[in-house]
Amino acid sequence: MSNNNEYEPHIVAFLCNWCTYIGADQAGTARLQYPPNVRVIRMMCSSAVDPVYVLKALIEGADGVLIGGCHPGDCHYQTGNYKTRRRYLALQAILKASGIDECRLWLRWISASEGRRFAETVTKMVAALKELGPNPMREKWTV
Ligand code: FES
Repeated sequence: MSNNNEYEPHIVAFLCNWCTYIGADQAGTARLQYPPNVRVIRMMCSSAVDPVYVLKALIEGADGVLIGGCHPGDCHYQTGNYKTRRRYLALQAILKASGIDECRLWLRWISASEGRRFAETVTKMVAALKELGPNPMREKWTV
């Protein structure tokens, strides 16, 4: 646990084009307040998030990775998000085995109409990552 209140977590967010990306946009147009700690990468489906992307982000010092996709049953590619859920569980095991706290990776189903849920997710994730402290891999890259 960290009491480092000065550190601002860096979050890489891979968001599905059809749901969560629009939800994030809706949060913005509705002027919902949420921390500006997220860098968004738009994907056509959450299943397009190769596990290597997640691992690379964390190995290169991101404090957290958020994968946002359509709710189960709503994926525009039928079963993409079921694949995402299986990958997420496998990634958690890989992170744990690698000594990277698996709590740095979040998977959330957020629809296009759930701007508030997106804002709340980011707010909660930033608070959780502040509690967890900076990604130890960060130090490796800051010389
Ligand atoms: S299209 Fe959104 S998760 Fe597949």
